[in-house]
Amino acid sequence: MRIRSILLLGLSAFCWACQRDFLDQQFHFASGFAPSLGLDHDAFAKRAPEPFTPVWTPEEKILHTSFDATEIAEWSSYYTHGDHVAGRNKSMAERTAQKWRDSGIQSSVVEYEVWLNYPESQRLVLKTGSGTGNGTVGTYEAQLYEDKLKLDETTGYEGSLPAFHGYSASGEVEAEYVYVGRGHKDDFAAVKAAGISLEGKIALVKYGGPFRGVKVQSAEANGIIGVVIFTDPGDDGPQVAKGKEAYPNGPARQPSSIQRGSVAYINLYPGDPTTPGIPSKPGVQRTESPSNVPKIPSLPISHRDALPILRALEGYGKTLKRQGWTGGLNTTYSSGPAPGITLSLTNKMKEVTTPIWNVIGIINGTDSNETIIIGNHRDSWIIGGAADPNSGTAMLIEITKAFGKLVASGWKPRRNIVFASWDAEEYALVGSTEWVEEFAPWLSQTAISYLNVDIAVNGGLPGAGATPELRNIAQQVMKKVIYNNSTLYDSWCVFQITQGWIRKTLRIGSICFYNGFTHLGSGSDYTAFLQLGIGALDFGMGPGSNDPVYHYHSNYDSYHWMKTFVDPDFSIHTTAGQLITLLAYHLADDALLPFDMEAYGRNLGYWARDVTSMTSDMPDTGNVQKQINLTALTNAYKAFQDVAKQFTKKTSSSEFLANETAVRDVNQRLKEVQRCFVVDGGLPGRPFYRNALYAPNRDDGYKPQILPGVVEGLQDRNFTQAREWTVRIAEAINKASDLLKI
Ligand SMILES: *[C@@H]1O[C@H](CO)[C@@H](O)[C@H](O)[C@H]1NC(C)=O
Ligand SMILES: *[C@@H]1O[C@H](CO)[C@@H](O)[C@H](O)[C@H]1NC(C)=O
Ligand SMILES: *[C@@H]1O[C@H](CO)[C@@H](O)[C@H](O)[C@H]1NC(C)=O
Ligand SMILES: *[C@@H]1O[C@H](CO)[C@@H](O)[C@H](O)[C@H]1NC(C)=O
Ligand SMILES: *[C@@H]1O[C@H](CO)[C@@H](O)[C@H](O)[C@H]1NC(C)=O
Ligand SMILES: *[C@@H]1O[C@H](CO)[C@@H](O)[C@H](O)[C@H]1NC(C)=O
Ligand SMILES: *[C@@H]1O[C@H](CO)[C@@H](O)[C@H](O)[C@H]1NC(C)=O
Ligand SMILES: *[C@@H]1O[C@H](CO)[C@@H](O)[C@H](O)[C@H]1NC(C)=O
Ligand SMILES: *[C@@H]1O[C@H](CO)[C@@H](O)[C@H](O)[C@H]1NC(C)=O
Ligand SMILES: *[C@@H]1O[C@H](CO)[C@@H](O)[C@H](O)[C@H]1NC(C)=O
Ligand SMILES: [Zn+2]
Repeated sequence: MRIRSILLLGLSAFCWACQRDFLDQQFHFASGFAPSLGLDHDAFAKRAPEPFTPVWTPEEKILHTSFDATEIAEWSSYYTHGDHVAGRNKSMAERTAQKWRDSGIQSSVVEYEVWLNYPESQRLVLKTGSGTGNGTVGTYEAQLYEDKLKLDETTGYEGSLPAFHGYSASGEVEAEYVYVGRGHKDDFAAVKAAGISLEGKIALVKYGGPFRGVKVQSAEANGIIGVVIFTDPGDDGPQVAKGKEAYPNGPARQPSSIQRGSVAYINLYPGDPTTPGIPSKPGVQRTESPSNVPKIPSLPISHRDALPILRALEGYGKTLKRQGWTGGLNTTYSSGPAPGITLSLTNKMKEVTTPIWNVIGIINGTDSNETIIIGNHRDSWIIGGAADPNSGTAMLIEITKAFGKLVASGWKPRRNIVFASWDAEEYALVGSTEWVEEFAPWLSQTAISYLNVDIAVNGGLPGAGATPELRNIAQQVMKKVIYNNSTLYDSWCVFQITQGWIRKTLRIGSICFYNGFTHLGSGSDYTAFLQLGIGALDFGMGPGSNDPVYHYHSNYDSYHWMKTFVDPDFSIHTTAGQLITLLAYHLADDALLPFDMEAYGRNLGYWARDVTSMTSDMPDTGNVQKQINLTALTNAYKAFQDVAKQFTKKTSSSEFLANETAVRDVNQRLKEVQRCFVVDGGLPGRPFYRNALYAPNRDDGYKPQILPGVVEGLQDRNFTQAREWTVRIAEAINKASDLLKI
């Protein structure tokens, strides 16, 4: 994930896109970590800490100064004081569209009819029988809702849903259970290798590492009949250790907090599970048994409830020596099973096919053949959702207002600007995926970039994932956004440069050979765009190691928490909004698209070299290298790098920039370069994932797998596949090079 590298540094979860967390365990190449680390060794130097005066054009000034933190606070409060679980609040969509219209943006509610499920009856009971274990004797029932807090009013709202997993299967199971660490495929394999049988058991796993749906997928593949996923306080960073008080009296985790979330298999495909590849319009043909949802039930629980369940396993099975196996609870983290000690899990879900509502606004450009899209989802699992996603939603109100003001001043962008407030992101990126599926031909023809904001603010440190062409312009725009008595860029540099691991390994003098961007995998609404060959950027302000613990997908991600612990004056929201606004402005209105093709070339080079070193790490390296033959790929990226250099040189000359026809032609080519990497038919077994450069890692779901067709072929020792994809990617790169030869 874009910020997964932070975990190398031992920081707390820096979690700002909603379906993801970053407690990664698998740092080795074979599972795809090294090539997806996102290191782009672009140098940037820290600016001198001088008094800051921004250099704005008149348009930038209108946009930047239009932001009003008080209004963001009001909208944050509006969005976080009512049920807005997917498909349950049409008036919120209508009010959003109305507000955008009031700002002068043509806006409407776009409806889809999708398959969702809601909780009906949930229970989890630990039965210790005669009490042979160290845990509670008799029975212990987990509390599947959070404590209601007097200080945080929305935690007491009537009608809020209990803790559950979206798209989980209905079922009632009782069995002995086994603790399986993070629930990664490799964790299940390690437990089996230790001689512990999994067949017919319930799996107890903790959050962190793979997307929760992928944990359930691995469990199912191992004959598990039900899954319980708990939050481990060991993943919270130093707050608890420092003895700080728990929310609402302090910044540490509230012990009853539960992480809800989807268990769809987003590594297979996102969107409405019953309509893969097509928009969910009324009357559409639906798949009866979708392949991307579990067949076994699952439930999330708090760490308070996990403790007795883990303790009942003490003395049984093994404590595996695996990274991330033990955590912050006072127990041995024994695998179990404990004979006769069982979990009884009931999960009754109500299945519905029901409307969801995206809000879509548009400013027409003078060139109708080019489009920029800015999107953020609106739905959350809870009444609050102050960070995920409504920090972004409140901010989007101000972004539309800022553009409305600029339009009112007589400005018209060159390119169309689309604003999107997605519904049902939480279930499986449903609103954005259905919309992309409906408008795919138009998007393929016109889309330039997609800018995503999900958790815009849950801390004060900027972070971003992006396709390579957008990284330089994003950094340039950061220099125009005021933040922390300086610029956002300074904050970005301070943050990126001062991280211990990076400083030690990648810094020479004041230059840091790490530009801080990561690659995009999945877990938020950029996914469908990226797979259509549309470059994307995903931005948010997240917490550092000493910041308050983020109660991800819990009732405590509330307005009260935001206002008390994160952004009391909503100035961080303002900053995030200003960045997205100015970036969108440049992408929408610069005569020449501000794309960095040399960065693209550098990254292609890193990735090709990563693949080469992956083959040389294999035991029969000579044989492997002969079979897959990376010469074409190597030649292709080197040629691209040369072409990109010439391209930059040529397109920065003043004669070129003065020739409108030439500039327009080049913009068209830059748009088409991105589409070169879309492969008909997609990856083996995953037709949705057709970007040859990036897919979500198949065993993780969140983090990216770079060059997935090649790497997965190598991992599976299917050299036919690896060779095929190497050739395909080399051809795509050559096609892109041809486009850039001007
Ligand atoms: C929709 O959200 C608004 C704002 O949070 C809230 O006032 C309203 O009660 C919600 N409507 C429903 C049907 O829950
Ligand atoms: C109870 O836990 C201790 C250590 O935590 C362990 O040594 C002992 O075997 C456990 N007893 C049983 C009956 O599980
Ligand atoms: C951990 O549990 C053991 C056994 O119940 C107890 O003696 C010990 O005090 C606990 N430690 C902490 C730090 O709570
Ligand atoms: C924008 O263009 C679309 C398609 O050409 C048209 O239907 C719409 O009315 C235009 N909107 C405005 C505000 O001009
Ligand atoms: C619009 O863009 C597409 C894709 O780049 C291109 O094929 C088409 O010719 C363009 N149409 C016009 C009118 O420029
Ligand atoms: C910015 O500077 C002013 C005046 O020196 C100070 O009052 C304020 O606290 C500073 N703000 C931040 C975020 O550092
Ligand atoms: C804000 O500025 C101060 C002083 O320059 C610096 O120590 C701090 O790290 C900055 N904070 C952020 C979030 O950039
Ligand atoms: C590898 O491919 C290149 C061109 O793509 C070709 O010239 C070369 O002969 C091939 N090498 C082997 C060992 O097949
Ligand atoms: C401008 O560029 C176009 C297309 O690249 C070219 O045909 C034309 O000659 C150029 N015009 C001038 C004045 O250089
Ligand atoms: C290996 O990959 C090829 C080409 O993608 C495919 O046709 C074949 O079925 C794969 N072989 C195995 C054993 O999966
Ligand atoms: Zn989210």
